[in-house]
Amino acid sequence: MEVIDFNKTNSILNQFMSELRDVNIQKDQMRFRRNLERIGEIMALEVSKRLNYVTKEVQTPLGTAIESVPDENIVLATVFRAGLPFHQGFHNYFDHCENAFVSAYRKYLDEVNFDIHIEYLASPELEGKTLILVDPMLATGNSMYLAYRALLSKGTPSTIHLASVIAAQQGVDYVCKMFPDEKTTLWCAAIDPGLNSHAYIVPGLGDAGDLSFGQK
Ligand code: URA
Repeated sequence: MEVIDFNKTNSILNQFMSELRDVNIQKDQMRFRRNLERIGEIMALEVSKRLNYVTKEVQTPLGTAIESVPDENIVLATVFRAGLPFHQGFHNYFDHCENAFVSAYRKYLDEVNFDIHIEYLASPELEGKTLILVDPMLATGNSMYLAYRALLSKGTPSTIHLASVIAAQQGVDYVCKMFPDEKTTLWCAAIDPGLNSHAYIVPGLGDAGDLSFGQK
């Protein structure tokens, strides 16, 4: 699996990342959501460079232009609820795509241990399509994988793009092991070293769902 880490190249994305992580700036929920969305837009542009294209004749008011347009059936999938602003960023660019939604939540067994439960799935057919599965925080990788497993009930995609804003190294290693190697690409804006005892990414940014939408 190819892993692309945007943090290796300086761009304006680093400014958005520093605002997402900053304990004071992240208190502004609207800015927090918009920064997730802006990173989704930048990643969508990069993912779009890997798609297949077909040339098309376009009638302008003054003549005919030839344009290359994407030639893939894209399904953009996300995991509730933290994934919504990131999904919106991708959707702003892939506005012709189909959309899928999966719910995943942590059911705590005690103070620290939890299982991830998938309860809701709304997805079009996936057979032979390009799946872009976006989840801003790739911690253990388990919810990303369980979401994918749930989506497989709708068919097998031909190509898979996984996108995260911050991934823990452990999550990267897990998805590299669990997803089909030859057809999956993992896109991350940063890869952080660790997880704490509650499986939150360190240094990370905190709880992306709470910071986007308020505490549960
Ligand atoms: N989900 C989050 O919102 N943050 C983490 O650090 C891990 C999972």
